[in-house]
Amino acid sequence: MVESREIRLKNRPVGMPTADDFELATVELAKPDEGQIQVRNIWMSVDPYMRGRMSDAPNYVPPFALGVVMQGDAIGEVVSSNDPSLKPGDLVQSMYGWREAFNAPATKVRKLDTHGLPAEALLGVAGVPGLTAYVGLLHIAGLREGDIVFVSGAAGAVGSMACQIAKLKGHKVIATAGGAAKTAFLKNELGVDEVIDYKTVTDLTAALAKAVPDGIDVYFDNVGGEHLDAALANAKTLGRFALCGMISDYNAASQPNGSRNLFMAVTRSLRLQGFVILNHMNLQPAFARDLAAWHAAGKIKWRQTVLHGIEQAPNAFLGLFKGENTGKMLVKLG
Ligand SMILES: NC(=O)c1ccc[n+]([C@@H]2O[C@H](COP(=O)([O-])OP(=O)(O)OC[C@H]3O[C@@H](n4cnc5c(N)ncnc54)[C@H](OP(=O)(O)O)[C@@H]3O)[C@@H](O)[C@H]2O)c1
Repeated sequence: MVESREIRLKNRPVGMPTADDFELATVELAKPDEGQIQVRNIWMSVDPYMRGRMSDAPNYVPPFALGVVMQGDAIGEVVSSNDPSLKPGDLVQSMYGWREAFNAPATKVRKLDTHGLPAEALLGVAGVPGLTAYVGLLHIAGLREGDIVFVSGAAGAVGSMACQIAKLKGHKVIATAGGAAKTAFLKNELGVDEVIDYKTVTDLTAALAKAVPDGIDVYFDNVGGEHLDAALANAKTLGRFALCGMISDYNAASQPNGSRNLFMAVTRSLRLQGFVILNHMNLQPAFARDLAAWHAAGKIKWRQTVLHGIEQAPNAFLGLFKGENTGKMLVKLG
């Protein structure tokens, strides 16, 4: 028998979750049955969308069950195999995160080819966050020559990739993030043209107008709320908005207030389109090709914030809502 510690959902939080909403438990794993493998996780991802799964309100993914181990993207190593398709030492990606080890059918994991990248990049820059930035900018917003691009939540996993893709394609980029360190990262390392520290401005709409007097053509929204209103107020006619996420609302204890500036969508003929990346996985091969070329040319930078040990997974998750990460938030296991 092998022991594995795992994180279970204890309560459905209202408002900002706390460490008390999670519990750490230990389970024992037998040898894998026929067709199964045993995997020891090395990296796990925490992501803002998981907040929606802690609630039982209707969502595009089912809620986490109470008292049961949570789920999420993870990378691990096969330690024991009872299936010919995988052998000990193989790296695999799965949705069996939030636990140190697991047994599962071999068909439920994907053998990983890291293409020379560190394995954990497959949870960040080369994984779902990177793909989300790529799809949102190029396919949802339909980036066109000369567009001025505004990205919110820009120092995070998705946002930092959206800024870089827009810069690689030759666009002027305006970004928001919280705090001096993130502002410096975006300006000095990613080459973003104008960065607003939204935590220090009293009027975000005015700050954006000052940064881009001629307005924005594209808005990549990770934040919603006041950011979306500022973007609406500063949009050029025929502007396109890729609505990727609205993290400022995820912990609202009651229904968030509606936008004050939505009428601008009418008067300026704006196109606002939301998207869920799961519906665009067909674009993954194109993204992987472009990313490989950008990486080979030394044009992609990434940061990650790493907490260590399964017991730190709730803190890593809660840190997303306090801005504690630059780039991808990860938990290193083992
Ligand atoms: N549509 C899709 O399929 C899809 C897929 C992946 C992610 N997403 C969405 O994309 C967004 C970014 O996700 P990510 O994984 O890259 O997370 P992330 O940006 O790496 O981490 C979250 C960041 O959000 C910022 N934040 C937290 N609360 C905020 C608030 N009240 N107001 C403004 N900023 C706040 C914090 O940065 P600061 O320090 O700058 O505040 C924090 O570091 C999220 O909205 C997520 O739900 C959507």
